[in-house]
Amino acid sequence: SSSRLRFLLAVLLFELVSAAAAVTRDDFPEGFVFGAGSSAYQVEGAWAEDGKKPSIWDTYTHQGYAFDHATADVAADQYHKYKEDVKLMHEMGLDAYRFSISWSRLIPDGRGAVNPKGLEYYNNLIDELLKYGIQPHTTIYHFDLPQALQDEYNGLLSPRVIEDFTAFADVCFRSFGDRVKHWTTVNEPNIEPLGGYDVGFLPPRRCSSPFGFPGITCAEGNSTTEPYVVARHLLLAHASMVSLYRRKYQAVQGGRIGITLLAWWYEPDTTKPQDVAAAERMNDFTLGWFLHPLVYGDYPPVMKRNAGSKLPVLTAEESARVRGSFDFVGVNQYGAIYVADDPSQLKRELRDYSADEASKYVTMPFESSRHQERKQPGLGLQNDDAPWALRKLLEHLQVKYANPPVIIYENGAGHEPDPSGKLLYDDEFRSRFLQVYIEAALQSIRNGSDVRGYFVWSFMDVFEYIFAYQFQFGLIGVDYGAEGRTRYARSSARWYAGFLHGGELRT
Ligand code: NOJ
Repeated sequence: SSSRLRFLLAVLLFELVSAAAAVTRDDFPEGFVFGAGSSAYQVEGAWAEDGKKPSIWDTYTHQGYAFDHATADVAADQYHKYKEDVKLMHEMGLDAYRFSISWSRLIPDGRGAVNPKGLEYYNNLIDELLKYGIQPHTTIYHFDLPQALQDEYNGLLSPRVIEDFTAFADVCFRSFGDRVKHWTTVNEPNIEPLGGYDVGFLPPRRCSSPFGFPGITCAEGNSTTEPYVVARHLLLAHASMVSLYRRKYQAVQGGRIGITLLAWWYEPDTTKPQDVAAAERMNDFTLGWFLHPLVYGDYPPVMKRNAGSKLPVLTAEESARVRGSFDFVGVNQYGAIYVADDPSQLKRELRDYSADEASKYVTMPFESSRHQERKQPGLGLQNDDAPWALRKLLEHLQVKYANPPVIIYENGAGHEPDPSGKLLYDDEFRSRFLQVYIEAALQSIRNGSDVRGYFVWSFMDVFEYIFAYQFQFGLIGVDYGAEGRTRYARSSARWYAGFLHGGELRT
């Protein structure tokens, strides 16, 4: 037994030493990709240039709904400054850049004629990336639906959008697929239906719930059913784009295609079984809303149970089309949200309404968990104590969803800029945040997760939707006060560059 003890001590020592050994890129599997990301509306600017027409986000910000009535008309002006940006990416040592295509720049009316200037822009951007050996990871749709389709048939609410999505994707594959080898059909389809059709704080601001967002006037809508309808159209649009890619392009172009989901980890607030069940429901109602159909061909059982007839049925034919329609799953992970079961919350919120009225307001968040959210690390809070959230998420994907290939497409920490306009150069909090998540990703890989890449959100400061410029995530800062939108490297940019150039992962 003394030899057994020695053996145990040796194991312990080995564990300690390997835990303390600094991580380098060589510790990651061969071919693992490190990158950073953005999306079209958030960085490009040039909102009405060279034939581009408005998206629903242009409309929304022009109506003054973003913080301080800000718009992304100019944003970081990447449309004009992409060469400078790609050079910065090269200096940083990125393997890959994630960006999205503005639908109404490429096809200004949403369907039909292709804008040659739009084609030219994305061709130039892709060629510039490849010139430096940086892989383009391209998102086809990132929240910015052409306003024309919203006006014509209510956009995502109509099944007609599926065909238009597919035609848009066809132009993308045909034009860029010789060089783009990683496609995401849709970014975060599991949040857009809620923001735009439940609470109504995102475009097109449809909602019927009285718990609206301060300062937002809801357009007409029906929060009890529309989020589910919209999500179903996004799911079917995704499947249709993938099927087109597989039929017509994949064999020749040799790329891979997936979807990117918002993937907060919902953690029970206590070990009480009700809270554990509530957290599971939240994971099923957000991640499972899309991932369950993608892996198993149908919605999670708990969604079917709780949402009943409000949840549209997937026909056998649709289910077959959706199942397996991905080569990888993109996840956007910013930490954990704590959940407690609180059945009385709904009653409290609805106490001023008649039963009849109240039934109109039983919207999706209530069906999912009747939850209380305690804290949300991540967005702006620079909370780096939850890298275990990424590990739990990846384990969940392993156990519950048959261990799909995963690309972590977003992870990052936001900050509120100094109101006086003073630029933030030293963002050590961001390097620390990223470090613990990158370490967590490595641990998950060692535990068998099939993670293929990691992307910081965001490469540079971007327009952060309702928060506009009041939340920034960039490794590279943008001086929005300067005429030329000057870029400057934050300490986190140098830190990431050090790691990407072979150094130890250490803040
Ligand atoms: C989600 C979105 O994909 C991205 O556009 C956004 O800026 C970040 N996460 C941060 O909220």
